[in-house]
Amino acid sequence: MTTAIVAPRQMLVGGGSLSRAGELLRQLGLSRPLVVTDPWMVRSGTVEKLLAPLRSAGMAPEVFSDTVPDPTDTVVEAGVALLRSGGFDVLVGFGGGSPMDTAKAMAILAAAPEGAKMREFKVPFAADRWALPIVCVPTTAGTGSEATRFTVITDAERDEKMLIAGLGALPLAAIVDYELTFTVPPRITADTGIDSLTHALEAFVSRRANPVSDMYAREAMRLIGPRLRDVWHRPDDAKAREDMMLGASLAGLAFSNASVALVHGMSRPIGAHFHVPHGLSNAMLLPAVTEFGLNSALTRYAEAARCMGVASGTDADQVAGSRLLEELRALNRELEVPSPAAWGIEEARWNALVPTMAEQALASGSPSNNPRVPDAGEIQELYGRAFRG
Ligand SMILES: [Fe+2]
Repeated sequence: MTTAIVAPRQMLVGGGSLSRAGELLRQLGLSRPLVVTDPWMVRSGTVEKLLAPLRSAGMAPEVFSDTVPDPTDTVVEAGVALLRSGGFDVLVGFGGGSPMDTAKAMAILAAAPEGAKMREFKVPFAADRWALPIVCVPTTAGTGSEATRFTVITDAERDEKMLIAGLGALPLAAIVDYELTFTVPPRITADTGIDSLTHALEAFVSRRANPVSDMYAREAMRLIGPRLRDVWHRPDDAKAREDMMLGASLAGLAFSNASVALVHGMSRPIGAHFHVPHGLSNAMLLPAVTEFGLNSALTRYAEAARCMGVASGTDADQVAGSRLLEELRALNRELEVPSPAAWGIEEARWNALVPTMAEQALASGSPSNNPRVPDAGEIQELYGRAFRG
């Protein structure tokens, strides 16, 4: 059996590493960057932290800042039009998951003939081709997108979050600088942090886990598990921010080389229909979905609890598994994760969409990687259970 392992060619990791952005591009033989970011990064001046070192290296970066949360195919198409008009040789995704995923999708779509649609690239299509390389700079800890071969793009016409996978979505390089995360507000810190934890946990229990993804997942859970509360309560805790940032990238490497599973499969439709931020919809589902699969991969879930520091080596697996469930529920309480109901979703609309969401979750393929593979009825039941938390 062969396992294909993928990772960016180079990752600059550490506080202050963003100052070496120009050097990194030069080393890769790239000099005409199009920076893909969001309006907030421009308005807040944060994007200057990237543009300054690029300019110092003699480059004249241009900026596409029209990316939106839950990036859509229409935004990607607008980005590709700009891309085709310039003489760019690299896309730099700068921001949270949305700008990075937009940059990835632009690189993939631009490699196709004009007029191609993003939906042609969704799984099971292998999106291995790119028109130009991608460098990713995450500003949250995080989606891990800087380290993965995935991008998630919403089909605006069909309200569907499409998973797009392949080497075309894998960044050539990444800059992982935790100093960018000090100003991330608590809600986004919590949501993106739980997203990272979910990546590591789902990669670890995935049917597609392998020794390399396990190594990344274990270390990610060790780093993230004890730090989620720290960054929530103490945003200026540099060591906690550093651990979270590295943990998020390692979690990205973990699921890029294994997969995500049922939480992500069910989370994407919630994002598509109700615009709940990605990490938050994962957090809403994580305890119920973990409970659903616990006894189908008890040894794995127990080890995850030990990695996160909530169970010890002497605890029996069943005890460690229970501790994991308690911890996930406790984290949601302490980090003030609302249920879908508390978030303001109308129950009638939720119930009406549950069958569609269950179908979309199954179609994404992610649920089939879960240790306990659900049918549509079981997914509907889980949506029902999660609604009030
Ligand atoms: Fe995620």
